[in-house]
Amino acid sequence: MGKLLWTLLLASLFALASEGEKIYMGMGCYGCHGVKGEGIGDYPKIGGKPIGYLVKKLHDLQQGIGYSSKRDMMIPFAKGLNEKQIKTVSHYLSTIDRHGQEKDVPEEILGGFGS
Ligand code: HEC
Repeated sequence: MGKLLWTLLLASLFALASEGEKIYMGMGCYGCHGVKGEGIGDYPKIGGKPIGYLVKKLHDLQQGIGYSSKRDMMIPFAKGLNEKQIKTVSHYLSTIDRHGQEKDVPEEILGGFGS
């Protein structure tokens, strides 16, 4: 692949991550899950989890399926996200490692969630 194509690919991945961060910060997700998705008290850590896991959990929550007694706090937030926002914010969260740093995610992990 040419250099220009790589640059465009990296730029679009970067844009996707920033979009996700905007959703995460703009919708107040950080208030319960922490600025880097690290989790606060009973509110689960979501940063650094695989994108497929996060997308599935958000779909479950949209249907009212959760695992804890606090699920009712999260359900409205899941319902407030459209399909594109779910993928975008999950992509962003999956790029944060366990120390709260953004990391590079191998393409095979992103595969299938690009569009
Ligand atoms: C008022 C607090 C609160 C806010 C704000 C909030 N969440 Fe949550 N979130 C929770 C709780 C509580 C759970 C656990 C739900 C359950 O019992 O399954 C959860 C679960 C999740 C999960 C699944 C985690 C897992 O491992 O099961 C994801 C993903 C998630 N939230 C993403 C988000 C996103 C994205 C936003 C912003 C749009 C957000 N949350 C806003 C409280 C919150």
